[in-house]
Amino acid sequence: MSRIHEDDREPVSRSWAKAVETDGFYELEHRIVRPNGDVRIINTKSRLSKDQTGGIRHWFGASTDVTELKKAENALRESEARLIEAQEIAHIGSWERNFNDAGQTLKWSDEVYRIFGQDKADFKPTRGSLFACIHPEDRASVSQAFECDENHSYDYRIIRPDGEVRFVRAVSLISTAKDGKAFRRTGTVQDITEQEVAALRLNLLENEVQRRYRINAMGEMASSLAHELNQPLAAIGNYVEACRFIVKSGDQELPAAAADCLDNAILQARRAAGVIKSLRRFVGQDDGSHSPEQLNETIREITELASIGAVSDGVRLELNLADNLPAVMIDRVQIQQVIANLMRNAMEAMAQSPQRVMSVTSRNNADEELVVEIGDTGAGMSVAALENLFTPFQSSKPGGMGIGLTISRRIIESHGGQLWAKRNPDGGMIFQFSLPLEEETSA
Ligand SMILES: Nc1ncnc2c1ncn2[C@@H]1O[C@H](COP(=O)(O)OP(=O)(O)OP(=O)(O)O)[C@@H](O)[C@H]1O
Ligand SMILES: [Mg+2]
Repeated sequence: MSRIHEDDREPVSRSWAKAVETDGFYELEHRIVRPNGDVRIINTKSRLSKDQTGGIRHWFGASTDVTELKKAENALRESEARLIEAQEIAHIGSWERNFNDAGQTLKWSDEVYRIFGQDKADFKPTRGSLFACIHPEDRASVSQAFECDENHSYDYRIIRPDGEVRFVRAVSLISTAKDGKAFRRTGTVQDITEQEVAALRLNLLENEVQRRYRINAMGEMASSLAHELNQPLAAIGNYVEACRFIVKSGDQELPAAAADCLDNAILQARRAAGVIKSLRRFVGQDDGSHSPEQLNETIREITELASIGAVSDGVRLELNLADNLPAVMIDRVQIQQVIANLMRNAMEAMAQSPQRVMSVTSRNNADEELVVEIGDTGAGMSVAALENLFTPFQSSKPGGMGIGLTISRRIIESHGGQLWAKRNPDGGMIFQFSLPLEEETSA
């Protein structure tokens, strides 16, 4: 007993006592201390035989020094724990497929279960259950890779039980026996969803940059085009006006219908010149400076541009602009961009609606801020969608970038205001933004 490590003496004597009381057999692992102080771990198996009175007759057994084995086991356990940790950090799981059962059964590490969103307790990884997790469009290509007996690397999508789609990359190696026959495929599977999404976004952004570049170039062209068109338009207006004057001052009375035509021609020429003027201002260089502006004028100017096509789309525009609004310090072009974004969203949301009314309202809120409201009678949105409304790159439209609202909110916040949205109780959406009135402009 004195050779037994003092912390292990009690369990050892308990085992002995139990062996004496019961079947006389015991197996135990415990530490001993050698005379030189070395601690070793031994595994002892022993049996005692009893005489008729129950006294101990023989006690024989074998002890094996398992110190090195234990050390190796501990090192293995530690390195396994580290491997599991590393797999978790890198989102890389490991798997194995043995060909002895025609490769039907798979062995997965815990991280593979996590990546696939499966519960280790009740999911048995087999060829069939793996393919059930793979996105239907990717099954054929994975199947091809599955059947071949070469090392390979391929990407595919999986669908988790909650419906979430993840992108994964599988890399694997084949192990072959001496006779050249493949007997095992060992591989890793990595969750690459974040990288894939980032790459997709980058791609979208690149397209968008190119699109914006084209629009920019077109804007510059529009600016000189507007300049070119302005001259003849002004001339047409002047000629028609002169014509009207000549006829009026002559002896001949002009039929009323013809006079109306001339008046309308003058009106339309002026309107066209107005649209072109605001287009030139809108596409012109934005120097980013804030100046005191009349909000209603700013709204009217951009409404004329942004609502082009609204009438042919069956959209009725309602302008409810409050009188006597004080001037507000803004970057006019930026605020017009916000209004244009909101109006475009509203018109797009009403594309399928039976009733299409877009309202633009301005008001003075307690002389502290001006509020602009853009309402529509479109499809509206769910409460859940409303929560993610200002998350960039969230778009429900086929060609949508999902950045219009993010840019708009940034512009409004840089003006010290706020942009928010709510569901219109009568259907559709209401977007509002506020612009603070500075003391000197509100006074
Ligand atoms: N008035 C609205 N009614 C219903 N849904 C809207 C409305 N305005 C925005 N949304 C929803 O919010 C999403 C984000 O709008 P946002 O303007 O940021 O991007 P987008 O219109 O999709 O693309 P783009 O960047 O080209 O403007 C839209 O895709 C749409 O689903
Ligand atoms: Mg938009």
